[in-house]
Amino acid sequence: MGKEAVLGIDLGTSAIKLLAVAKDGEVLGVQTEPLSLYQEYPGYSEQNPDEWNAAMQQGLKNLLIQPQMEGVEIKGVSFSGQMHGLVLLDETGRPLRNAILWNDTRTTPQCETIKAKKGEQVLGNPVVEGFTLTKLLWVKENEPELWKKAATFLLPKDYLRYCLTGEIYTEYSDAAATMLLNPQTKAWDKMLGEEFGIPDIYPDVIQSHDEAGTFNAALAAELGLDANTPVFAGGADNACGALGSGVIRPNDAICSIGTSGVLLICESIGGAEGYGHKIHLMNHAVADVNYLMGVTLSAGYSLSWFKREFYPDDSFEKMLEEAQEAGIGGHGLIFAPYLAGERTPHGDASIRGSFIGISGSNTRGDFARAVVEGITYSLYDSLIYLRGVGKNVTKIVSTGGGAKSNFWLQLQADVFNAEIYKLKHEEGPSMGAAMLAAYGLGWYPSLSACAEQFIHFTETFKPDLKRHKTYERYFRIYHQAYKATRRMTKDLLELQKD
Ligand code: XUL
Repeated sequence: MGKEAVLGIDLGTSAIKLLAVAKDGEVLGVQTEPLSLYQEYPGYSEQNPDEWNAAMQQGLKNLLIQPQMEGVEIKGVSFSGQMHGLVLLDETGRPLRNAILWNDTRTTPQCETIKAKKGEQVLGNPVVEGFTLTKLLWVKENEPELWKKAATFLLPKDYLRYCLTGEIYTEYSDAAATMLLNPQTKAWDKMLGEEFGIPDIYPDVIQSHDEAGTFNAALAAELGLDANTPVFAGGADNACGALGSGVIRPNDAICSIGTSGVLLICESIGGAEGYGHKIHLMNHAVADVNYLMGVTLSAGYSLSWFKREFYPDDSFEKMLEEAQEAGIGGHGLIFAPYLAGERTPHGDASIRGSFIGISGSNTRGDFARAVVEGITYSLYDSLIYLRGVGKNVTKIVSTGGGAKSNFWLQLQADVFNAEIYKLKHEEGPSMGAAMLAAYGLGWYPSLSACAEQFIHFTETFKPDLKRHKTYERYFRIYHQAYKATRRMTKDLLELQKD
């Protein structure tokens, strides 16, 4: 008999990743398929749900024909996905339009409408363009004919799961990212929806580890899988990223640098009602746990942009080597990573990035250093906020792009003044998705038991107080960049519209 395994499918923004994990946590196979992004106007960011489905099906085929997958029995599947995106379905279950994504910032007017009625904070979260409610309102106001046909809405990975199972569900961690679910009571706030003219188009909400149907018979036959293979609900990518890094107990924290960057800390459900309008409060993929989260919209995105434009013929390693050589402060250069606006702490879709302090002696290595530091400072902004509301964060698991180089891990330890933990094997949110399937199947008595078996750490990076103090001096200047450049970058944006 072959090995038994589960599949974790993570719908990212730039790619979909499929991971096969054995019962003991061994990674058996990985497959990624690229995704296209449609940015028709400045601030727009859309994807075609049918393309997600095609990429998932292709990915499944490509994963299962990998030689080491021969004889492996897939026992369960689950999902992780980019948060907040709006997938609107008609009554036959077909998408009515492209999905409007988390990083689409067209909905500033809708945010203003919500703020005018409800204030800066709704259901424990800031009113920002990313959240699904603003996107629902945009479609209602701008595409009324299409809106009339809306029968239900889903979050991105829920649509993929629906394509596999034919069953419509969402789960708490993604539902909490819509601004329509109360993360403390775990119920849709339909009255709030009514206030904004949202009819009853809510999907049912289940737990992340609940079974949400079984594998579609035709596709199962094509792939050589059992048609009764259970499919579990899954979770939001930041929830699954945290779970897949063992960040599941109150006070566990993670810093994750993907396209966006996230600083997240767990707490028990039923803590405070909210922590002010600057930070997110959402349900974890682990029942009875919530998390607080700050988000940098352009984290890894800033680094890839910089690499593409300034180091097109070099590797990331070469770029980071030069950044390291530049030393703290990159010879007097600061970078504000607001390439597509900023979420935490500014909640401003129209701020844009800047380099400050350029002199004739600056090298491209100094610029690279400024970019790495600027991304880290933007996450430090969130950390300072979390510490300010009483979260004593001293240990942080680091994942994503920021965890790929020891130089950047040490830099995080020094800037954050916290111990940074590096994972032995890092698979990101797809690992959290696989764990939800493993737990859903009853392979483990709890998600913590599963985490103990699946997740291991290698190194710890300890902060150096002297360097921390030096970074603090630069950070204070970085922190002024937002206010100092807000008006100018907004005016520049306006000019582009002429
Ligand atoms: C979180 C957020 C992003 C996306 C990226 O609030 O908007 O981190 O989840 O996939």
